Amino acid sequence: MGKEAERPFEPDAAIIIEALNDYYERSVAGEGPVVRQPPMSKLAADMELSTLIQEGGLTGEKLSRFIDQYLSALTRIYHPANIAHQQAVPHYMAALAGLVDNFVSSDGSIYELGAASVTIEYVLINWLLEKVGWTPAPLNPQQATGYTYGGGILTNGGSLANLTALIAARTRLAPEVWRDGNPGNLAILAPAGAHYSIARAAGIMGLGHRSVYPLEVDDWGVILPDRLQDAWARVEADGKRVVALIANAGTTAAGLYDPLRETGAFCRERGLWFHIDAAHGGPALLTNKYRHLMDGAELADSLAMNMHKLGRVTAFCTVLLVREARSLDEAFTQEASYLFYEKEQPGYDFLHRTIECTKPVLGLKLFMVLAAMGEAGLGHYVEQQFDLTAQAYEYLQALPDFFCPVEPQSNILCFQAKAAGDTPLAMRDRLLARGKTYVSSAVLNGQRCLRLTLNNPATTLDDIINLVREIREIGAGNSALDCRDG
Ligand SMILES: Cc1ncc(COP(=O)(O)O)c(C=O)c1O
Repeated sequence: MGKEAERPFEPDAAIIIEALNDYYERSVAGEGPVVRQPPMSKLAADMELSTLIQEGGLTGEKLSRFIDQYLSALTRIYHPANIAHQQAVPHYMAALAGLVDNFVSSDGSIYELGAASVTIEYVLINWLLEKVGWTPAPLNPQQATGYTYGGGILTNGGSLANLTALIAARTRLAPEVWRDGNPGNLAILAPAGAHYSIARAAGIMGLGHRSVYPLEVDDWGVILPDRLQDAWARVEADGKRVVALIANAGTTAAGLYDPLRETGAFCRERGLWFHIDAAHGGPALLTNKYRHLMDGAELADSLAMNMHKLGRVTAFCTVLLVREARSLDEAFTQEASYLFYEKEQPGYDFLHRTIECTKPVLGLKLFMVLAAMGEAGLGHYVEQQFDLTAQAYEYLQALPDFFCPVEPQSNILCFQAKAAGDTPLAMRDRLLARGKTYVSSAVLNGQRCLRLTLNNPATTLDDIINLVREIREIGAGNSALDCRDG
């Protein structure tokens, strides 16, 4: 087979890099709408999608035109007023890692397909195991005796990590299920308001949503440790066996931390599998100032942490950790003669720990970002985002026309604008239409609020001040309309 006829990689890459640099600089400078949603038909035409598919030849001028059109209709992740979702604002090194990954098309599951990529993922898992307070796995697992160490796997997202952890927990409780199917008496305990991936996992595992028993929580969705016993008693009374009890380290709505030590102690006393969904707030472990929020994490059996939220890397990059490597190694038992067989090799295969077969390399970008910033640098970034959120809270609380229902613990802040004259959803729509600030919304204690997620190193308190100004402007417009109508 010959080489591809034309392969102007370097000039095309230069076009892309120039376009990306321009996009970055304009975004960080706060230029242009942070969010723009032209009609899809117009976009398809502007990007000349059908023509390009038919004619090919995406290079040089055509490539330049296409990439400009493409970037112009994206939500500007680097824009300081992009403060809506738990979506990482990536370090540029993540993009370079993506380039390498996509160029070399390595694999993250089998050593012989990617010795370097698998090694990086193995080392990253060990690095995080130590942060939790668990024992890292030996670099030569073949020579290890006994299962006295932790383990993990990098997954395509927190949903998949939660599902994987719950499967491992079920295998520990009822190993026969893998062969015989569910017995119909399995239950999961999770805080009311846990991320929907938990109920979804119960559905996928064939347990059904109704097998998820809610743990009692306070008004803001945080586990009440003195009510754990009641939930447990309800499950027992129904004749069910608990696969796992789940706590949040960072609730999705408000970024609040469950009391991990008390919850963990409760699970330990009863021999329950304790899973921490730290998809959002796990990186507090990298800080000095906020590490206490993760106090008790070492009591868990498994913990999932999304590095594509607070880890400065693009989706996906979730690290699922288990205290005992054996539990993950035994989670799935499968036969595939072309892949699973006893073999002597100088490294590790992750294949038996994953739901997928082919697995993209997820660790290179995290490693390269970490190695560029250093772990203290990444920890400092997390601290800064939490600090800024605390400042934003104090600022909003001091205003007569704004109100935050709960004090933030991480980088998510929920608030109400009292006199804006719009429901939070209507206000969000107006903000979206203006395109100057991108915020999200969530329901807390039965009330919908506007919600900020401060992930962006370019965001400062001035952006929150601007948001307040904008909401007031919209509110003033509303009351002028009210007067006219009246
Ligand atoms: C607490 C929590 N768990 C799990 C998830 C799901 O993660 P992913 O979107 O990576 O599947 C999220 C996502 O927002 C989350 O906040």
